[in-house]
Amino acid sequence: MAGYNFNVPELEDIRALLYVPGNDQKKIAKAASLMVDGIILDLEDGVADNRKDEARVTIAEALRTIDFGNSERLVRINPFYTGRAERDLQAVMPSKPDAIVVPKANSAEIILETDRIISAAELALGLNSGSIAIIALIESAKAFVNLPSICSASPRVQGLIFGAEDLAADVGVTRTPFALELLYARSTLVMHATAFGMQAIDMVQTNFINLELLETESRQGAELGFSGKQIIHPAQIEIVHAAYTPSPESIERAQKILEGAQKTQADGRGAYSLDGEMVDLPVVKRAETILSRARAAGLIP
Ligand code: COA
Ligand code: MG
Repeated sequence: MAGYNFNVPELEDIRALLYVPGNDQKKIAKAASLMVDGIILDLEDGVADNRKDEARVTIAEALRTIDFGNSERLVRINPFYTGRAERDLQAVMPSKPDAIVVPKANSAEIILETDRIISAAELALGLNSGSIAIIALIESAKAFVNLPSICSASPRVQGLIFGAEDLAADVGVTRTPFALELLYARSTLVMHATAFGMQAIDMVQTNFINLELLETESRQGAELGFSGKQIIHPAQIEIVHAAYTPSPESIERAQKILEGAQKTQADGRGAYSLDGEMVDLPVVKRAETILSRARAAGLIP
């Protein structure tokens, strides 16, 4: 499939990714007005079994009629083993979402099956080949073991999402507030996303009242190298956007590092000292990453 005239889907960087139950028209309309980076219209766990049909119709209609502004429009389908995934895709593809979120993405075969259905629908609908991205939800031990083949299964795969609660249930992990028990999984996911040039979206903080908890967890995720975080409530948007936006201090520091590096490179030196710390190539690269994120957030030209 990924051969002729295939465009790699262009997905903007997503800092906060908000879940909205797919059968809740009012919440969908509200989500579209919140200026959040990404919205997941959910057909899976956020929708009761007897509301799946209704949710398919509501999502398809919302994508056609509501202006989502600059928010990326994602749809989370049901897992293939439920027998619902194919109908989910048939229902929403004509409304052209920006990406399909595949839950329980445990193997490359699941990605290939999704890719096959999307490609056929693109052809039937006269859409550009490769216009719709896939985001894989990594939430089982098997998915972690299969990460390299999942990431390389299709050029549509543009991001990985970490499903903490499902993974904890699968592995028998005891959840603790600081989430030390999930550190290996979170870091591994970030490594694979980076290696394959994709976005890495961190776990949900289900407590939407205690915003200090959210802030700590968001900062931790950003420090681990995630590019964004899943959220479930509008009250969580501002904190998560801020945690994944470089601070004015870090931007200033990055600019200073690059200026210094340009001068010392011209003098023929690879490493130099800045305020008592060594600056060499990896430090310069990290500074460039910070500045490109700041540019993406519109903070610097
Ligand atoms: N998307 C859009 N709007 C949302 C929202 C969401 N995820 N969660 C809450 N809102 C809206 C409410 O409709 C309400 O709007 P209003 O003031 O215009 O009436 C406002 O934000 C305040 O909501 P609040 O009363 O605090 O929460 P709630 O009781 O309505 O909803 C939840 C709480 C948890 C049910 C809701 O946040 C939700 O459905 N989240 C997503 C759950 C989900 O999809 N889970 C599966 C993936 S993990
Ligand atoms: Mg889940």
